Amino acid sequence: MKNFLHYAQPSIDNEDKKNIERALFSGTLTAGDYLESFEDKLSKCCRSKYAIACSSGTMALHLLALALDVDKNTTVIVPSITFMASANAFKILGANIVLCDVDETSGLLSISALSRIISKVPKYNKIIVVVVHLGGRLVEIKKVKELVKNKGVIIEDACHAFGSYRIQNSLEKDFVGSCKYSIASTFSFHPTKTITSAPISASTIPQKGPGPNPANSIIFIPDNGPIRLTSQRLKFN
Ligand SMILES: Cc1ncc(COP(=O)(O)O)c(C=O)c1O
Repeated sequence: MKNFLHYAQPSIDNEDKKNIERALFSGTLTAGDYLESFEDKLSKCCRSKYAIACSSGTMALHLLALALDVDKNTTVIVPSITFMASANAFKILGANIVLCDVDETSGLLSISALSRIISKVPKYNKIIVVVVHLGGRLVEIKKVKELVKNKGVIIEDACHAFGSYRIQNSLEKDFVGSCKYSIASTFSFHPTKTITSAPISASTIPQKGPGPNPANSIIFIPDNGPIRLTSQRLKFN
């Protein structure tokens, strides 16, 4: 009875144990080669340009909020069924959070409800739509993009959805994290999620480019090598 219904019980095998031991004795217990290799493998898995590791899915969302200069003139649209971090990561910077109804069958963001909300956002407000791929099920993000157009940006809260994909052209897999229609996707590797790493989570981010793009401020400042926003802002070391 003691082992009945664990809160989270990841499967950890001997290879995992060996890898942990290798990391422990590698000489670098923070950052270092393992972190770089993790980020590299993650971006390859998701087919994104970059991946950046951080301490939790909440932190990944919050870093994006900082990178996008979220403030009281930002409207963040969040589905009404999600984990509170999807909203709180933006709320803490003063954003105006608007909850969007979900589809009664899938529990995912309702496209028609989103359309009504977007039409009412004041013109001077920046819009961020946080699309949550609840329980690994994917929101129809192409439709969200068609609605948002260039009125705002989309962030995928893919904290539940590492490894989820859509089938494209009957063959190709379009993995969550590729950020085809969004400016970034966030993952959580908390022990209750599809895979776990204990304390690490991450964002994937597409190419740098014009417009609000976290790649311009979170990751690289060319010529100076990698600069992490985390160490540039007070309290986010
Ligand atoms: C939808 C969603 N977003 C974000 C998070 C935050 O992830 P973390 O627990 O790694 O901070 C969670 C965590 O459960 C979540 O369910």
